[in-house]
Amino acid sequence: MSDPLVPAAPSPLDGRRILLVIAGGIAAYKCLDLIRRLRERGAAVRAVLTEGGAQFVTPLSVQALTEDRVYQDLWSLTDESEMGHIRLSREADLVVVAPATADLLARMAAGLANDLATTLLLATDKPVLVAPAMNVRMWQHPATQANVALLCQRGVRTVGPNDGPMACHEHGPGRMAEPMEILDAIVGHFSGAAGGRPLAGRHALVTSGPTHEPIDPVRYIANRSSGKQGHAIAAALARLGARVTLVAGPTREPDPPGCTVMRIETARQMLDACLAALPADVAVCAAAVADWRVKGTAGQKLKKDAGGPPVLELTENPDILATLAAAEAGRRPRLVVGFAAETQNIVEYAVAKRVRKGCDWIVANDVSPAAGTFGGRDNTVHLIRGGTVEHWPTMGKEAVAARLADAIAVHLERAGP
Ligand code: CTP
Repeated sequence: MSDPLVPAAPSPLDGRRILLVIAGGIAAYKCLDLIRRLRERGAAVRAVLTEGGAQFVTPLSVQALTEDRVYQDLWSLTDESEMGHIRLSREADLVVVAPATADLLARMAAGLANDLATTLLLATDKPVLVAPAMNVRMWQHPATQANVALLCQRGVRTVGPNDGPMACHEHGPGRMAEPMEILDAIVGHFSGAAGGRPLAGRHALVTSGPTHEPIDPVRYIANRSSGKQGHAIAAALARLGARVTLVAGPTREPDPPGCTVMRIETARQMLDACLAALPADVAVCAAAVADWRVKGTAGQKLKKDAGGPPVLELTENPDILATLAAAEAGRRPRLVVGFAAETQNIVEYAVAKRVRKGCDWIVANDVSPAAGTFGGRDNTVHLIRGGTVEHWPTMGKEAVAARLADAIAVHLERAGP
């Protein structure tokens, strides 16, 4: 029973206008549930049904749930007299495309306008969120990947697709995100958009960059991490209102605005700085921490003439992510997020790594030289939370950071104060 003295928290979807484009995929049926959930939270939903979409759900069921007419035809005289496609595309706060088929994504990327859905997607000045849904091979096809990457570059946001068995009896990424996940992405959009500060009052701890492990006073062991992704995550969390402590190894990245930056060199210094920064609501360990350091660092520069090349004895560094994840109750951040830098079997290794390190989520990324992740602008990641794997298209590191920060905000909002 609700307490009459405590006003119910306003839903971030209250009064929001969602324009939902339902394209032709078997996942279209999930949109009916999505509409219901959006309306329950106070959003108004106006639906556009493509010709393909109407093969999977009927206009009548969509109309009954939206309690509005369903728009299907670009050339309908009534539509043009009552509500032109330009107005339709502008009278919304967010355009959601679910399911977004390979064909619709391709037409969006090419800027085609050959039906009502593509025309309004080209004409809109509002943010667009797409929930891709297709066969695994279609999703993995370079054409689809290039189309999605181009759309992301233009600011289109994506949710999913997920891994799992498909209607076509194949298995892999391509399943449309579940209605609750699409809802989370929409809530995340409205919480983060327009200066929303869903993380106000929260403390976020982020590690970023490489560590340098000294061999002697002039030499060190390092790795190729640029710190771009970790710094972008710190900036994205700060934009959502969090107080951010960024523990950064040696990088050329400028300090992200609004963050307290603690610069360290070695893994042990990084661990000390992280422990000193606790408590935190969320920890994101994006640093590429050196796994080993040299046992007994030389106090003076090692000389060549000292009897052949030196043999470096290595010893293991502390694992910062695992240490934070294992911190005692009260000190453990409520949400601990790790990264998994892999060069092969990316998702499989990352799933095992999440369990091994005891963290809640892990962001798996391909750091093989061919992927160009280290030092590059883009990243292709898979978000593993518990048993679910979400495959994100290749995006700029800022876009990956914004989407991760949104997901963290939604998670913490759900978890309560
Ligand atoms: N990590 C950490 N402390 C370490 C090593 C890694 O906090 N000493 C964190 C990284 O920041 C990242 C996660 O652990 O969030 C995974 O790092 P990764 O380098 O992918 O894994 P490794 O621990 O090196 O495991 P493996 O050698 O099996 O790849």
